[in-house]
Amino acid sequence: MNGRLEGKVALVTGSATGIGEAVCRRFAEEGAAVMVTDRDTGGAIAVADSIVMSGGRAEAMSLDVTDVERWSVVMDTVMASYQAVNILVNNAGIGIMGSIEDCTLQDWRQTQAVNGEGVFLGAKMAVERMKLHGGSIINISSVQGMVGDANAPAYNFSKGGVRVLTKSVALHCAALGYSIRVNSVHPGYIGTRMVEEGLEALGDEGANVRAGLLAGIPMGKFGEPSDVADGCLFLASEESKYMTGSELVIDGGYTCR
Ligand code: NAI
Repeated sequence: MNGRLEGKVALVTGSATGIGEAVCRRFAEEGAAVMVTDRDTGGAIAVADSIVMSGGRAEAMSLDVTDVERWSVVMDTVMASYQAVNILVNNAGIGIMGSIEDCTLQDWRQTQAVNGEGVFLGAKMAVERMKLHGGSIINISSVQGMVGDANAPAYNFSKGGVRVLTKSVALHCAALGYSIRVNSVHPGYIGTRMVEEGLEALGDEGANVRAGLLAGIPMGKFGEPSDVADGCLFLASEESKYMTGSELVIDGGYTCR
């Protein structure tokens, strides 16, 4: 442990697995007290317990990011226990694939509710508390918030929204002199449940799609959750103290060309 987040309190959404779990583990290694939150409460408890077993500080809390009342309860509980929320990682997200011809209105609304409104609520709740003591808000967007995918219009829309919402909140905080930095992270293809289950769902076609995806990545492989966690650590720590409203792309070169 290097103590890069010593004394900080971090809340990570959607952290029962995948990128969020890796962020929690990395932050705890660097000394943060980590609030592991997810709509999958059992999964969040398992991650928090495992961090504590390894000598870190963590607590699990149930949080569906679309639930505004629950957001208030979670934030107020953290403030009462720790007197601060220094870092928020808006990570929870879903990916429902389907072209503009296949995507239903229900798919569209569900995607915007989790990936869009969930991030809006998190940022709003965090700014309200962080303006008292400063902080870092990290919004997990995607390369698909920067470039289009014919099979992901709802996801593209939600992640593009997260990209510019980040800049709006960053400008607001800077203009009012709040000591709050707000940045977005844009992972490329990362080998998590979201990607693996998506490929499995394609059945026999999955192997061809995987090969096609890998061919589009200059570095020729999927990233690991820890690659994204390391980027989040940089944005959470004082090492990025002059960064706000910026985009950190972690994609093996996917968006280079
Ligand atoms: P994952 O599917 O492996 O894990 C997502 C987690 O979010 C799960 O624990 C799930 O229970 C939780 N979750 C889903 N809906 C929720 C809700 N309404 N409230 C609270 N928790 C909820 O996904 P992964 O891959 O770890 O993705 C994390 C974030 O990174 C997402 O925002 C995703 O869009 C983004 N991302 C992922 C990429 C990838 O290739 N895996 C690439 C670019 C972005």
